[in-house]
Amino acid sequence: MAITWTPNLAVGVVKIDEQHKMLFQKVNELINACNQGKGKDAVAELIGFLGDYVVFHFRDEEKLMQAHNYPDYAKHKSLHDEFVKGLGELHDELEREGPGLGLVLKTNQVVVDWLINHISKTDKAVGKFLQKKEI
Ligand code: FEO
Repeated sequence: MAITWTPNLAVGVVKIDEQHKMLFQKVNELINACNQGKGKDAVAELIGFLGDYVVFHFRDEEKLMQAHNYPDYAKHKSLHDEFVKGLGELHDELEREGPGLGLVLKTNQVVVDWLINHISKTDKAVGKFLQKKEI
């Protein structure tokens, strides 16, 4: 089941919204690779790419928050750090069970739920804050 970025997930900062769309795309590629029975190496590469992209995205978002003295920065950053750790669970699942249904379920649980929840609440709060500052 693919996940789709919808306008109600827009944070209102073009760069961040574009990165979120890319994250959705990468998650979908990972889920598709598992569903299509792609090999372990191909799936590991996708998990690696997703991990790198997440770190890149979080860094940009954190810089933006810091640049504007966002009051909930520390809490937001700790959620990012937790998520990066959670991505490690996908690697573990891949090592344990290979690129099958278990990994799809884990991806849905660890990545999809978190991503949608985080963007729609935590990231949107940043967007609102920045809008008030007329950025
Ligand atoms: Fe878009 Fe806070 O991650």
